Amino acid sequence: MKKISDEGQFANLYDIAFNPILKRVHHTVSHFAEKYGCHSIIDLGSGTGAQCRVLAADGFLVTGIDASMQMIAVAKKKTEDSVTFIHDDIRKTTINDKTFDAANISLVLHPNAKETIFEILQKSKTLVKPNGVVFITDYGIGTKFSGWLSNGLIRIVESFTRSDHRNHYFEFMGNKGIDMLNSFSDVKILEKQHYFNGALQTFVITFLK
Ligand SMILES: C[S@@+](CC[C@H](N)C(=O)[O-])C[C@H]1O[C@@H](n2cnc3c(N)ncnc32)[C@H](O)[C@@H]1O
Repeated sequence: MKKISDEGQFANLYDIAFNPILKRVHHTVSHFAEKYGCHSIIDLGSGTGAQCRVLAADGFLVTGIDASMQMIAVAKKKTEDSVTFIHDDIRKTTINDKTFDAANISLVLHPNAKETIFEILQKSKTLVKPNGVVFITDYGIGTKFSGWLSNGLIRIVESFTRSDHRNHYFEFMGNKGIDMLNSFSDVKILEKQHYFNGALQTFVITFLK
């Protein structure tokens, strides 16, 4: 498989660096999964599997998929066997359509070009059951001093990523960050959760027919 992302090389350090920051996201997604009556959830771009572990501990049936072999290896090592991990490109997976109650897409949109973001969203639409929901977490435009400060710190971190990742991040933020989801005509936003005054946000969406 063509190398899709650059995060894999930091797979062993990823949880140490990001889990303390993402802990609230993991529990928020689990809360939403319960609120929307979900049982089976696929985590698209599951990375080291941290979100999968929180969902599994809360009783959900979880599948993770990631294009990075290093990420999958770390995820399998750290996670109980009840969670299934698949090494594949989200866009090309042959998992049956309409299998899951929900999909989760966390920090996967911003490293990708707008066309790829569209393809990932369309794939999530086919994977969830009719009226299924998708939880999307990614960077937003922060408000107030702490939101702007968080945006600035994220910008510094993203500046050190591979050039395609970095360029896509700047394109993503130039398109209003996660608020770009408002521009997809078949997406209905059900609710949002803000962290760091909006610099990071989770959207719960569903698809219009
Ligand atoms: C920044 S990490 C986020 C990991 C995890 N979701 C989290 O929130 O911590 C992005 C992950 O998405 C994966 N990814 C990006 N594009 C992908 C694609 N098209 N198919 C599968 N995985 C992809 C990368 O390999 C990487 O592990």
